[in-house]
Amino acid sequence: MSSELERLKIVIVGHVDHGKSTLIGRLFFDTNSFPEGKVESIRKACEAEGMDFEYSFLLDALLEEQEQNITIDTTQIQFQTPKRKYVIIDAPGHKEFLKNMITGAASADAAILLIDAKEGVQEQSRRHGFLLSLLGVKQVIVAVNKMDLVGFDQARFAAIVEEYREFLAKLNVVPSHFIPISARHGHNIVAPSADLPWHTGLSVLQALDSFAPPASASGLPLRFSVQDVYRFDERRIIAGRIETGRLRVGDELIFWPDRKRSRVKSIEWWGATEPRQEVEAGFSTAITLEEQIFVERGQVASHRSEGPAEGREIRARLFWLHETPLELNQSYTLRLAAQSVSAQVTKIERVIDSSTLDVAALAGTEVKKNEVAEVVLRTRKPLAFDNSDRITETGRFVLLQGKGSRIGGGGIIYGANYPTTPADADAVKSDNITWVEGEVTKELRDRHFGHQGAVVWFTGLSGSGKSTLASRLERALFQSGIGATILDGDNLRHGLCSNLGFSDEDRVENIRRAGEAAKLIADAGLVVITSLISPFRADRKRVRDICREEGVPFLEVYLDVPLEVCEARDVKGLYKKARAGEIKKFTGIDSPYEAPEAPDLVIKTAEISQEEALALLLERVRRLADPGQTLIPPGEGI
Ligand code: ADX
Repeated sequence: MSSELERLKIVIVGHVDHGKSTLIGRLFFDTNSFPEGKVESIRKACEAEGMDFEYSFLLDALLEEQEQNITIDTTQIQFQTPKRKYVIIDAPGHKEFLKNMITGAASADAAILLIDAKEGVQEQSRRHGFLLSLLGVKQVIVAVNKMDLVGFDQARFAAIVEEYREFLAKLNVVPSHFIPISARHGHNIVAPSADLPWHTGLSVLQALDSFAPPASASGLPLRFSVQDVYRFDERRIIAGRIETGRLRVGDELIFWPDRKRSRVKSIEWWGATEPRQEVEAGFSTAITLEEQIFVERGQVASHRSEGPAEGREIRARLFWLHETPLELNQSYTLRLAAQSVSAQVTKIERVIDSSTLDVAALAGTEVKKNEVAEVVLRTRKPLAFDNSDRITETGRFVLLQGKGSRIGGGGIIYGANYPTTPADADAVKSDNITWVEGEVTKELRDRHFGHQGAVVWFTGLSGSGKSTLASRLERALFQSGIGATILDGDNLRHGLCSNLGFSDEDRVENIRRAGEAAKLIADAGLVVITSLISPFRADRKRVRDICREEGVPFLEVYLDVPLEVCEARDVKGLYKKARAGEIKKFTGIDSPYEAPEAPDLVIKTAEISQEEALALLLERVRRLADPGQTLIPPGEGI
């Protein structure tokens, strides 16, 4: 006896008229899985019409009932044998079938391919075979239906088996069972049929019961897909779904593609009386981390040793469903787990007609409806993913197209390069983005970069942490696909501002030049992080005004650190010299620093960790660089 809970998900596919509804009706009928009274009412209705009992009506009635009950997913219906429960995913004639299969909304443990004995193997039979191979469904039954209509002819059955077996072999699909059946009359559904004495194999239900139970996704490497991040004061609660593997309190997680790391502090389980220590695949959960690192929707967390692949380029087998062909170098939205990024197919290596398996085209420029293609995709931002044969959940994706974001097609990933050691997982990658350019308006530029330019203006005393944070921020932005650069006070004074000293007038000019330069760079589409003391309020306001005139988003970040702390840090030994009178007009000592009155963001680097400071910054700057965002935050002096 196997566990009560074990459920096998099966999909029944075949040409429209080959008898799916009847087979499903029959499976339910023969296993007594219909609700009380349903069978009787259908029998009466059929009698009243003077027709034979129609099994497919049973299914229709069942589906109708489910539609009224919104809590049940209408594409999932269940029946039961003494051995276990079965869930049939997709109802017959369900238009969304292919989409469900491809999106993983319907992932099957086993499949029944249905063929009409009279009609034989049809285009759709072949296409569905292809789909099963594409999706890696390994446990397959081929049922040749309506055997009664061909006089239970063994030769006819054998011919179909031979033709289909040969076709499927090319796809590496090897059915476990070929079974001659009549769904309408119940031959070979539950038990072997007397009218088919030459069939020595199993019945459909026996064959289903012989299949292995689904492998548990909990044994796979952890993939925690972040769906939302909620902030309560300083606490961040990260909600998401455990796609595969297990997550425990105390585990060190890496969030891809940013590669920020922290340990799981707690698992928040709503309604639970005792704190949970562990969650496993298939559950949605929320966690908190020990450090308040920057995490956002779409990221995928793994353990350190078994991370996903990461990059901007993926190789995939793509199945196109839409009337409008997929085009090379067109932008589509790619969805993978909770990640959503803009993507282009940059190479179509070969296109295959899924019915004939013929290579329809080599290195073409489009993929038409019902074609399958081997392609290379390039995403605008880095993506975390897996090979589909390693982890299906993060190994497949859909492409959305057009305004309504309709599903155009879907694909499975192969040939991914994984980081091979934990050290690799820690390494920083910085792919250069290549993206097509047209006429260079702001819109085009924003589309090109996937973000808009902006100025992030750090101000604060020498030693307040401007340079350190600026470079951390630059790297983090870069890693998340946002082009960023730093204008550092010390560096500018080596070039652009080499003729300036530290008198009040020179500082004014210094900030003016830095401000103008920052605006120009932001205009060109980058996020500019400036790192200058910029001690005077009026100068900072002038830069803000310059940016506002150009429509460049501007964020004033005040690194609020007490002079004593900066002086104690004295990284460059300049405070000591200033105190000794060796440097004149040193800010904070003998030259004033005018703290911002209404900065956009205040960071007290003496009180919070670098990681926390970075998280605060990233949150603001990502919003600022979002092309939809054109407002310049108020800040001081406005
Ligand atoms: S600002 O006042 O004009 O904004 P800026 O940020 O460019 O200054 O340069 C400050 C850096 O120059 C400091 O980090 C320090 O390393 C160096 N420096 C040298 N002399 C001075 C001084 N008198 N006052 C402040 N910083 C100085």
